[in-house]
Amino acid sequence: MFVKTAKETLAIQTKQVMPNDTNALDTLFGGSLLAWMDEVASISAYRHCGRVVVTASINNVSFDQPILAGDYVTLEAKVSRAFTTSMEIFVEVFVEDSMGKRKKSNEAIFIFVAIDQHRNPISIPELIPETEEEKRRYASALQRRQLSLVLAGRLDPKEASELESIFYKDKK
Ligand SMILES: CC(C)(COP(=O)(O)OP(=O)(O)OC[C@H]1O[C@@H](n2cnc3c(N)ncnc32)[C@H](O)[C@@H]1OP(=O)(O)O)[C@@H](O)C(=O)NCCC(=O)NCCS
Repeated sequence: MFVKTAKETLAIQTKQVMPNDTNALDTLFGGSLLAWMDEVASISAYRHCGRVVVTASINNVSFDQPILAGDYVTLEAKVSRAFTTSMEIFVEVFVEDSMGKRKKSNEAIFIFVAIDQHRNPISIPELIPETEEEKRRYASALQRRQLSLVLAGRLDPKEASELESIFYKDKK
């Protein structure tokens, strides 16, 4: 099966925060931001595998600062590692104010699964990381995958070899 580089999976979307995206404080509603992140992550996942993809898990979501009505929000998503049928996608959110100053406000890590016409998981291409950051994310993805599976009740912590040092203090 062919391979893809992480760079080839980059998806970028820019949106402006409109009144129907806001909460009672006139800042961006977290649920709207999550939906935007899910959408851009799905585009990145699709660019990696060229198949229908579904969200399996959303992890490590952080809302570091409020985003104001009228702000421009840019979402960047890139696959960090592909496993057999699932892939991890990093989504970063940047806010640009009216002076054009851009700063990172949020991030989240998504797991998408490629499925066939019967909704069964299907194998995906391998991902090749190239930059230092891509290589760092690729290397640490295995640990995050095991943590996600343990938290979802899909993996016995005893089987989570990458997490032994967290769950069992006496193990290195
Ligand atoms: C995601 C889905 C296809 C997985 O199907 P499944 O029958 O459980 O398949 P598997 O157990 O083989 O899991 C498929 C892959 O997902 C991974 N996975 C599933 N849940 C996961 C989680 N919480 N965290 C990390 N990985 C997860 C598995 O490890 C496996 O990865 P691999 O093939 O790369 O090793 C299925 O649960 C589904 O259709 N869910 C609904 C998805 C959806 O509708 N999302 C939209 C939001 S509602």
